[in-house]
Amino acid sequence: MGACTQPATGSSLANGPIQTQARIVDHRQIATRIWLMRVECPEIAGRIQPGQFVMVRMPRATDPLLGRPFALYDTWSDAAGQLAGIEVVYMEMGRATRQLPSLQVGECVGLWGPLGHPFPEPRPSTKRVFLVAGGIGQTPFLAHARELLGQKGYGGESAQNRGVEVHFVYGARNHSFHAGVEHFSTTGAKIDLATDDGSAGFHGRVTDCLAKLIGPDPEMEELFGCGPEPMLEALAKFAQTHGLTCHVSLETPMACGLGICFSCVTKVKTSDGWDYKRVCVEGPVFDASQLVWPHEHP
Ligand SMILES: Cc1cc2nc3c(=O)[nH]c(=O)nc-3n(C[C@H](O)[C@H](O)[C@H](O)COP(=O)(O)OP(=O)(O)OC[C@H]3O[C@@H](n4cnc5c(N)ncnc54)[C@H](O)[C@@H]3O)c2cc1C
Ligand code: FES
Repeated sequence: MGACTQPATGSSLANGPIQTQARIVDHRQIATRIWLMRVECPEIAGRIQPGQFVMVRMPRATDPLLGRPFALYDTWSDAAGQLAGIEVVYMEMGRATRQLPSLQVGECVGLWGPLGHPFPEPRPSTKRVFLVAGGIGQTPFLAHARELLGQKGYGGESAQNRGVEVHFVYGARNHSFHAGVEHFSTTGAKIDLATDDGSAGFHGRVTDCLAKLIGPDPEMEELFGCGPEPMLEALAKFAQTHGLTCHVSLETPMACGLGICFSCVTKVKTSDGWDYKRVCVEGPVFDASQLVWPHEHP
């Protein structure tokens, strides 16, 4: 196996992102159009936390020239128990993600991260956390579930159980698009699946599935969401109707990932209207009640 040429280079900030070439050690399809890629990058693995993401760039690629953002799926350790790298799970969508499956074990990808802010801690009153995913939006929640349930520590922290029950509510077009459910089933989270066509779990939208699960006291429950924007907008509305706290992780297309190009902006409410925030540096996780959704007019 050839070595990746570029050594990891740090940022001048203590916890700033690291740029490296990371060798692929596992790469396999886990559902329809969905792939898991495990790469070697101990420096990033030691810092990254659930909710943060990395930019992945094809080796020697000129089209696309820029990297693409992918959430931390999980970290992994080598046979000696040393933190060795991270995993990402991606869906074939367009120019970059249709080329990625051709990469073989032993090849290298450009990696830049950790980027963005992690998920916030649950409130002290929260007893049940719902991780609500649609489409490819399950990817940030495996590490989040493991962290909340004390199965694993991230970002240099040791594992610590947050004392909450975790429910993973995962909607997809049909059963063949449900990716990594077997990984979630090892976390101790309760799992509820939903499909548009009824081929697995609840037949219908993920928010309707969620409606059957929540309890009467909004102080004791909290939502986290990730998925396509219409689903997140429906989740934000659901949270508002039920008086629930809800944070969403946005999957806005990005160019630089560094806060320079403003290609990733989203509208956030302010005291006198709204302002743009960059998802790459001020997100990707936002309080759903603070966002201006497409069908909302503040
Ligand atoms: C913080 C963050 C984390 C992400 N994590 C993951 C992840 O873990 N797994 C994963 O598969 N994807 C994730 N995404 C989305 C992923 O970055 C895009 O799917 C990817 O950039 C598409 O690149 P591409 O070159 O294949 O598609 P492009 O050629 O750039 O685009 C192809 C088509 O898809 C549309 N498109 C591109 N990106 C999106 C998007 N995010 N939402 C809706 N339509 C889009 C474009 O408008 C175009 O029509 C994440 C995005 C962000 C911002
Ligand atoms: S991607 Fe360039 S500012 Fe966010």
